[in-house]
Formats: sequence, C-alpha cells, structure tokens
Amino acid sequence: MSELKLENVGYCYKNGDRDVLQGVTCTFKPGSLCAVVGPSGSGKTTLLSLMAGLDKPSAGKLFIDGEDLAALDLDCYRRERVAMIFQAFHLFPLQTALENVCYPMELNGVPLAQAQERARELLAAVDIAEEKQRRFPSNLSGGEQQRVAIARALSTGARLLLADEPTGNLDTVNGNRVMDILRHLAHDENYCVVVVTHDLAIADAADQVYRMTDGILTARGA
Ligand SMILES: Nc1ncnc2c1ncn2[C@@H]1O[C@H](COP(=O)(O)OP(=O)(O)OP(=O)(O)O)[C@@H](O)[C@H]1O
Ligand SMILES: [Mg+2]
Repeated sequence: MSELKLENVGYCYKNGDRDVLQGVTCTFKPGSLCAVVGPSGSGKTTLLSLMAGLDKPSAGKLFIDGEDLAALDLDCYRRERVAMIFQAFHLFPLQTALENVCYPMELNGVPLAQAQERARELLAAVDIAEEKQRRFPSNLSGGEQQRVAIARALSTGARLLLADEPTGNLDTVNGNRVMDILRHLAHDENYCVVVVTHDLAIADAADQVYRMTDGILTARGA
C-alpha cells in the first residue's frame, strides 16, 4: 500500500519571490483516485514534484506510509516507490515500447528476461498488442503512447502514481480510456493515484477532487 500524507507543506522556488505552495495539508490514500484542479500557475505541478521526491518542501513535511520523506533516500524513493505520468508521455524515442517498459526494471537490477516477461504482461494489460510492443513511440498513436507510459510507470512496482495532465494531449475517447485504466488501478489494484487536470469532466471521474488556488489546496465539497 502507499499512503501519502502532506502536513503544512510550503514551497518557494529559489529564484522566486513568493510562496508557490502554502500550508498544504491532505492525505492521498491507496484505493482512491484523486484529482487536483486549478488555474494555470496555481502550483499543481510544483505539488506533484514534491510528492514525487524531485524537490524538498521549504516548509512542512510529507510522509509515505508514515515515513518522513526527509529521512528517506530520495533516489531510492523515486526509483521504487513513486511513478509519474506526463502530458507529453516522455517515452524514450529510440527505444521500442517494450524497451521503454523494461528500462526502469533494468535500472533496478531485474534480469533482462524477467523484465521482458513482466513488460509484455503490463503492455498487454493496457491493450498494447505484441506487434505494437516492437514499435518505436513515434509509430504509435498518442493514446497508445500514454498507455505505454502507464505500463512503464507500473513496471517498478511503485504503488503511488502521479499523473500531470495525462489526458491533455488526447482526444476524449483516448482520455477516457486512460482515466478508466487509472481508476481500475486505484479501485481494483489498490494503487494510490493522483491526477492533475484542467478538464472538469476528467476530474468528475475521481473519488475526491481538490482545488488549488494560489498555492492553497482545498477539498471540493469541504
Ligand atoms: N522553476 C521555477 N522557478 C521559479 N518559479 C517557478 C518555477 N516553476 C514554476 N514556477 C512558478 O510557480 C508557480 C506554480 O507553477 P506550477 O508549474 O506549479 O503551476 P501549475 O498549476 O502546474 O500550472 P499549469 O496548469 O500551467 O501547468 C507559477 O507562478 C510559476 O511561474
Ligand atoms: Mg502544471
């Protein structure tokens, strides 16, 4: 399981003149799909990058399953416990779909044959057939590339999935398909899934919606 708790989290960019996040307090639980909405520049991506261990908060604390992130080896946290999905997919262009999914496992020392077997299973689960697994990302549709990116995010066994506008480059049908997969992972596989989105229809598919306004996070309906 993976529960991520934030207590009074604040953040100011080194070259910034103001707090981009202020007093963010909330708990993201396993088994649940949460959405974070809010205007451009309100701090959504900054929040995800702290949750992903890419940066440290200027104030407050984050806890993963009760462990203070400040006390953890963040390289290890990023390799093993958290995975990110991006609007622009961020697949490696010179690797096939299969190689993209194998790569994080290889970095974690999984033998190649075992990594390939797991990658094939993960890709099949997001409906990427074997012939497409051998293609480079540029020869796949946007929806297919995002599903490969989801398979790659799952490959390390991380239980916390953070998605920044994962449907932003997709049409409604493919966007809904990606959300169906993320919802399935939360509800049926007990992942903790947090999705940042501008799209209120996408946010409505979530179990809980948070709104970010000028660095302050509030639960919708609260
Ligand atoms: N590297 C940086 N250095 C300084 N300020 C930054 C940096 N990155 C972002 N900011 C500022 O922090 C604030 C929050 O940015 P952030 O990217 O978190 O917003 P966002 O809610 O994700 O916006 P969008 O919806 O456009 O993606 C903005 O005012 C932005 O200009
Ligand atoms: Mg953003």
